Amino acid sequence: MKKIVVYWSGTGNTEEIANKIAGDLSCDVVNINSASIDDVLANDLIIFGCPAMGAEELEDTEFRPIYDAIMAEIGDKKVALFGSYGWGDGEWMRNWEAEVGANLVTKGLIVNGGASDIIDSDYQEFIGALNI
Ligand SMILES: Cc1cc2nc3c(=O)[nH]c(=O)nc-3n(C[C@H](O)[C@H](O)[C@H](O)COP(=O)(O)O)c2cc1C
Repeated sequence: MKKIVVYWSGTGNTEEIANKIAGDLSCDVVNINSASIDDVLANDLIIFGCPAMGAEELEDTEFRPIYDAIMAEIGDKKVALFGSYGWGDGEWMRNWEAEVGANLVTKGLIVNGGASDIIDSDYQEFIGALNI
């Protein structure tokens, strides 16, 4: 299955996690600001990363518009989600999972910090579900 990691990151935490996931899955990784929507849609599994921003929301200026454009054409492609957060409890990810609905392949990976803060058991479960 052809896979790509598409992420947004303000201070680098989600970027670190994006690079780790792409390395472990041996797939491409692209910052959403430089992503071609057609190139992203050429994949069967799209792994989106965006930190908790606003008040438990996706980043709405750069990430949300391009993400929405991709999701408008997602069809039956598979989707996975990850991101970094700070002081919340992961509410943004629960909302995001509900929004994606049936295309979601596994529970979103949430990380309180950067790549060095990943909980290994969560990560193994996430990566295992994406090895398809
Ligand atoms: C404007 C702004 C809003 C944020 N809102 C939330 C939030 O609602 N919940 C939360 O847990 N963390 C929130 N955070 C913390 C970020 O999610 C956290 O710093 C994260 O590591 C940033 O990831 P990044 O380095 O990939 O940008 C916010 C940070 C900023 C700058």
